[in-house]
Amino acid sequence: MKVLICGGAGYIGSHLVRELSSQPGYEIIVLDNLSKGHLKAITKGINFEKADIRDKEALEHVFSKHKPDAVMHFCASIAVGESVTDPLGYYENNVVGTIYLLQAMQKHNVKYFIFSSTAAIFGNPEETPIADDAPTKPINPYGDTKLTVEKILAWTENAHGLKYVCLRYFNACGAHESGEIGEDHHPETHLIPLILQVALGRRNCIKIYGNDYETKDGTCVRDYIHVTDLATAHIKALEYIVRENNSQKFNLGSGEGYTVKEVIEAARKITGHPIPEVVEARRSGDPAVLIAGSTRAEQILGWKRKYNTIEDIVATAWKYHKANINGYGEN
Ligand SMILES: NC(=O)c1ccc[n+]([C@@H]2O[C@H](COP(=O)([O-])OP(=O)(O)OC[C@H]3O[C@@H](n4cnc5c(N)ncnc54)[C@H](O)[C@@H]3O)[C@@H](O)[C@H]2O)c1
Repeated sequence: MKVLICGGAGYIGSHLVRELSSQPGYEIIVLDNLSKGHLKAITKGINFEKADIRDKEALEHVFSKHKPDAVMHFCASIAVGESVTDPLGYYENNVVGTIYLLQAMQKHNVKYFIFSSTAAIFGNPEETPIADDAPTKPINPYGDTKLTVEKILAWTENAHGLKYVCLRYFNACGAHESGEIGEDHHPETHLIPLILQVALGRRNCIKIYGNDYETKDGTCVRDYIHVTDLATAHIKALEYIVRENNSQKFNLGSGEGYTVKEVIEAARKITGHPIPEVVEARRSGDPAVLIAGSTRAEQILGWKRKYNTIEDIVATAWKYHKANINGYGEN
């Protein structure tokens, strides 16, 4: 089976490529514009096409040349704060780009699509853990771009028979067990790499935004899922869509969370560094607790997490960051 991995040079996409390429029966093509991704993150020997999903001609070239059977779509602009200041850029990349990709699929009769959605489509949830069929009410343009794509997918299935799986997740984290690939976003906004940058001497302290929430230690509780566990879920979703010829949406959460202080404490244990912390005011729009369930993924996909504790997750991230102090050093 030929699988086109859009955004395969990025953090989650590169881990998916690493996992999928270790399984028999798949030929992989990575498409990425390298705006945020890294050439060094792509597993050696994998076909790579530098292209932008907003470029229809480039998509036509890639689809004619490689004739994929399925598409996995990781490309997106992903910073929530930036989406508030640049909504048009976010809708252009995340929605218009996806429409062009779906049009290329339709033209080339490609039926299977796996989409990186996000738990941000749920906004401030009424109940946690967030259930698979919880109401969707995004509170920022980023979350809304993803929900818009989910709606487009449903109508496209209705009209053209596309089969798709949406995977909604929160904080992807950790690194491949080899320590060869890991998380290197610019700018970095994710908690674990920011904490580890303190341990590496790249920043003086870690900022905690608010310690007066109604949680066990006053700091926000979030869901952390290891990037390799996410990769496994994507592969199971691909197997499902081909086997069942059915569309579905799955939350990928741990069902339990960790406070910001607990994550910092885990990093102190793993790195042996004191990691100074500074408490700042709450950020607007930060809910106290964001945790997703994964009942449907466990029942239907048979998905099981391998990394169950924050220590295990941080240890893999530390292995990567220690060996690659400046990340990939590419952008
Ligand atoms: N990182 C997380 O915690 C998280 C959580 C939930 C959902 N997601 C979703 O997962 C996906 C991957 O996230 P990530 O953390 O790996 O991000 P990332 O920025 O590391 O990867 C995205 C990749 O897409 C590429 N890209 C972006 N726009 C493109 C375009 N127009 N044409 C071609 N390539 C383009 C980038 O160069 C990059 O390599 C995104 O869709 C994101 O919304 C991420």
